[in-house]
Amino acid sequence: MLQIAIINGPNLNLLGTREPHVYGTHNFDDYLAQLGKRFPGVTIHYFQSNIEGELIDHLHSCIGKVQGIVLNAGAYTHTSIAIADAVSAINVPVIELHISNVLAREDYRKTSFIASKCIGSISGLGMNGYALAVQQFVDITP
Ligand code: DQA
Repeated sequence: MLQIAIINGPNLNLLGTREPHVYGTHNFDDYLAQLGKRFPGVTIHYFQSNIEGELIDHLHSCIGKVQGIVLNAGAYTHTSIAIADAVSAINVPVIELHISNVLAREDYRKTSFIASKCIGSISGLGMNGYALAVQQFVDITP
């Protein structure tokens, strides 16, 4: 069974009520249940934290346990060299994910410290981006 981690960073625990015009009205737990049904052959391990160090610890804990990581680092995307270093360090393929189209928003969201460490990025496709990222791991994992 393919093991995939989805890691969400700060403020993403508030999906569903947080700026619904930007992030939609779906609660992530409900979306995760749908995702599980859509990918019966994949075990999805979900982790969310608002704390940078916890996100780094969790990235480290994925070594040897999962075949791919979908990482929405939230605002840490634009600020955290430490999370970028963790992505480089773990030797597990990571897809950077953003629900909103970060390139169409404020200039400070156009910088990503993690993008160059990832195998690819998905931005602006809403919650469906997570399903597309999981599908990518299904397609590329031997
Ligand atoms: C986000 C985009 C980031 O700029 C923002 O800080 C978030 C969410 C997204 O999913 O669109 O918290 O990563």
